[in-house]
Amino acid sequence: MKILVVEDDAATRKGLEQLLAESHSETRSVGSIEKARAAIEEFSPNLCIVDLNLPDGDGLDLIREVRSQNPTREFIVLTGHGSIDTAVEAMKAGAADYLLKPLKSAQISVVLDRLSEKMDLEREVDDLRSQLAQTGRFGSMFGKSKPMQEIFGIISRVAKSDAPVMIIGESGTGKEIVATTIHELSRRRAKPFVAINCGAISPSLIESELFGHERGSFTGADRRRQGYFELAHGGTLFFDEVTEMSAELQIKLLRVLETKTFRRVGGNEELKVNIRILSSTNRDLQEAIKSGKLREDFYYRLNVFPLVLPPLRERKEDISLLARYFLERIEEKEKAGFREFEPGALAALNEHSWPGNVRELRNVVHRAYVLSNPPVIGAEAVRSVLDQPTMKIAAKASRPATRSRRGGEPSRKPPASRKAAAKTR
Ligand SMILES: Nc1ncnc2c1ncn2[C@@H]1O[C@H](COP(=O)(O)OP(=O)(O)OP(=O)(O)O)[C@@H](O)[C@H]1O
Ligand SMILES: [Mg+2]
Repeated sequence: MKILVVEDDAATRKGLEQLLAESHSETRSVGSIEKARAAIEEFSPNLCIVDLNLPDGDGLDLIREVRSQNPTREFIVLTGHGSIDTAVEAMKAGAADYLLKPLKSAQISVVLDRLSEKMDLEREVDDLRSQLAQTGRFGSMFGKSKPMQEIFGIISRVAKSDAPVMIIGESGTGKEIVATTIHELSRRRAKPFVAINCGAISPSLIESELFGHERGSFTGADRRRQGYFELAHGGTLFFDEVTEMSAELQIKLLRVLETKTFRRVGGNEELKVNIRILSSTNRDLQEAIKSGKLREDFYYRLNVFPLVLPPLRERKEDISLLARYFLERIEEKEKAGFREFEPGALAALNEHSWPGNVRELRNVVHRAYVLSNPPVIGAEAVRSVLDQPTMKIAAKASRPATRSRRGGEPSRKPPASRKAAAKTR
């Protein structure tokens, strides 16, 4: 990283240079706004660390001026203990962070880490965008249709924030893959992503599953156990099929989401967590509210940002792209030597109405793979698979009640009842 220090006080400047040398950055320093302008022009730093009181003007003006020309250049302001208000002002002008004088090396490394994480994510989203334009690929998702391109744009924007997102779409449209993509593009990505299938956990257990329990809080609670809220701390919690939650639990969760605190079952201690909430449903939400399945206040809490996934039949341009992607994935595993689809096979896929959406497409490709002779997936095989009445049932595969990834859940044996709950799907 190239860093420009703009500070007129020689001692602070020297100290900062020494501290920055430890972070392996290329650093330059100047003592005035005028020199800073010239240095930005010539040195083109990624980051400027700017004192607010400079001999020839206000550091804030420099930030506003430079940010308006190049919004990707980052700023950190230097400020004294008595002037937090100016730091806030600077953040409004576009500074990413501030450093308090007298400077401490620990503080600087925290601020620099935070900033480089932010810059990495932004670079990654930019890379994904350009990859998307060329290949129709966005992370682990594919789609070149207009509605999916829009969805990818929204994902890159909401990923940066902590806003709750409600992902709405028919079964198999990709709600869960969207949730994981949002998590992967957020600054929470090194922390756990925990998905909870609200319809699959038995109502009598769900509270202890979510909030954990203290030893002895109920028969069988032979030791203290952490719930998903604790396990997802710092990361993302995904409420899959959120309308399947009982009204009672919705009220409880609403309180937890509002206060960000909860108690383990049978416990007195108020626990605080930092979690981002994503949720999904394949139902008509207005209908669910009207019929009383979904509480309106809970819905407003979760639905800060709605993301509606179109059914596959409304984005037919994606069918061949997705089919080829699934073929590649299957071939990687099975290695039977398949390369392509017969033109008639793609035509048959295009004509189908896909009630089970992308999941159904994946299953159809897999079955046609088994029925075809390498190296091409035959039109005949695809047609015969599409004619099978079992296809619709297979479109909805059973999935476990909870899943987590990335340093997520410490391994622990699920109770038998949780497995049973998962099987009911
Ligand atoms: N745009 C996409 N690109 C690549 N794979 C996709 C895409 N959309 C969905 N998939 C794949 O299709 C399958 C179904 O997706 P997912 O489980 O996310 O759907 P869902 O909407 O959560 O379904 P359900 O309502 O049944 O829970 C998964 O294997 C997923 O990886
Ligand atoms: Mg799902």
